[in-house]
Amino acid sequence: MIETLRREDDAMTTFPRAQLAHAPTPLDPLSAIMAVTGHPHLYVKRDDLTGLAMGGNKARQLEYYFGQALHEGADTVLITGAVQSNFARQCAAAARKLNLKCEIQLEDRVSDMPTGQDKTGNFLLDRILGVKIHRFPVGEDENAADENLDRIADELRAKGAKPFVIHLGADHAPLGALGYVDCAREIIEQTAELDVPLKAVIVASGSAASHAGIVGGLRHYGSNAIVHGICVRRAAELQTPRVLKRSRDLAKMLGHPDLVQDQDVITNDAFIGEGYGKPTAGTMAAIEKAARAETLLLDPVYSGKSFDGLLGLLAEGALPKDGACVYIHTGGTPGLFAYSHLWDTFEVVADA
Ligand SMILES: Cc1ncc(COP(=O)(O)O)c(C=O)c1O
Repeated sequence: MIETLRREDDAMTTFPRAQLAHAPTPLDPLSAIMAVTGHPHLYVKRDDLTGLAMGGNKARQLEYYFGQALHEGADTVLITGAVQSNFARQCAAAARKLNLKCEIQLEDRVSDMPTGQDKTGNFLLDRILGVKIHRFPVGEDENAADENLDRIADELRAKGAKPFVIHLGADHAPLGALGYVDCAREIIEQTAELDVPLKAVIVASGSAASHAGIVGGLRHYGSNAIVHGICVRRAAELQTPRVLKRSRDLAKMLGHPDLVQDQDVITNDAFIGEGYGKPTAGTMAAIEKAARAETLLLDPVYSGKSFDGLLGLLAEGALPKDGACVYIHTGGTPGLFAYSHLWDTFEVVADA
């Protein structure tokens, strides 16, 4: 039995939460990668196994959004994301599970996507789950996406509904980051059980809810482990202030405004390539390596890039060897099918 760090007076107990994720998720050794690299303590935190319509990091984040939505008496949840958004897919599933209505706005964020996106990946799952889908032509302006979502919410209100909006922008309270405070606690507890000191965590950094939650959560529960955020959405010079803001907003919510210092936030954009949803040859090699060496199924938008980041950090010798380094598999597996065309253009690169 793993001893929990969550005490009765933990500020985390004060936030409304809906049970959605299968947690704790397993912490597994990356045995083949350890054998190849000589790093003695590499682990993967299997957040691709959170359940909720094919798993992924958003299940944890949605626990706190839906907790708040239920607390406010909402009857409909609105969310915006890319056409192949994992967040929208898991939000649709969460709404079904909790008997709420859901409307999702899908933004055309990635150019050059093949036609027929509605017949594959997350979009297909959205349709199977049966939510109302709005299309939004702009993908790079998150304020515009949020404003349009607010406009839809106003229309619903005018008809007597009680909508709850999950915004994309970083000006809104980072409720989703609370889910990654839970994940940070699990990682501390699981590495303590293994009797290996926790030294580093590697996580994809997009909206920054996961990244901020891990940084804030580790500090909240007393760990000084380094967190490497691998950029998947924007350059490090934009991502660093974003993660800092979200971490500081989270820290205030937890009642410790000084919890996170500037140096706690590390972002790395060396693996992002041309940007969001544009995988590089390194992303593709990482996907194949993870599948063949560890039977982990990654995706081309998020986890493929963050795993490429893990391999890059290992190659640079940037990960300490005197304790556990934990890669968080944030899921995204349905995206593999939406990006299957990539395997027509990329050489098969990895043979682990
Ligand atoms: C599979 C997957 N991994 C990682 C991320 C990035 O997480 P965050 O938005 O919390 O930074 C996302 C975001 O959509 C995702 O869907």
